[in-house]
Amino acid sequence: MERYAALVRNQPCMERLAATLPGIVAEPFLHARMVNTLSRMEYVGVRKMLKARHVDQLDLDGVQHIVEEATHALRLKKAAVKLLGGVEDGVRTYSEEDTLAGDGAEAYLQGVDRGCEELLSNLDFDEPARSEANYLLSSFIIEIRAEAFYPMYEQVLQDAGAPFSVRSILKDEERHLAEMFERTQELFGDAWRELMDAAVAEESVCFESWVDVISQGAAQKLANLQS
Ligand SMILES: [Fe+2]
Ligand SMILES: [Fe+2]
Repeated sequence: MERYAALVRNQPCMERLAATLPGIVAEPFLHARMVNTLSRMEYVGVRKMLKARHVDQLDLDGVQHIVEEATHALRLKKAAVKLLGGVEDGVRTYSEEDTLAGDGAEAYLQGVDRGCEELLSNLDFDEPARSEANYLLSSFIIEIRAEAFYPMYEQVLQDAGAPFSVRSILKDEERHLAEMFERTQELFGDAWRELMDAAVAEESVCFESWVDVISQGAAQKLANLQS
């Protein structure tokens, strides 16, 4: 697991993101919308879980995962409102206007989902086992990214003296990652390593695009503000 975490942490797109984030965080107008984008992504993650998971598979950990991701969406939404001085206007919905490149950012999750679906199409799974396998595989690689992203973001928040922290979210994501690590290994057995290598490679392409749309979205919103 540490091998994937290190691989993802050291990618050039993470360096680009580290260079972009302080500029966004310094401008509450942009920062609030970026936090709202993160909230939208947590929400879309919940929606995917609700759709993918079958009642025959849903245990205590599964319900807890859904609730915790929904709580992340809520915490981030509240943080976005806080950044705008307690006013909801500007981050009220998850629309393109109220987010920083919300549609492009959501495309990351859709891309990961599709990539996992393709990888799994080579394996022998029927529904609902296929949806369950996709849930585990896509959650695993997204949690690896979350574990690289949230500490970097937390550092930027602290450096800027931001009025909120993402430490508690990171703690949940670390637990989810450990659970997904265990369960994907159980499910995929010998195929695990090959599948993970391919899935992490797919996710990395999607995340590179995510960094691009966030950076471009920030530049565009700033230009609109100044015009
Ligand atoms: Fe989350
Ligand atoms: Fe999570």
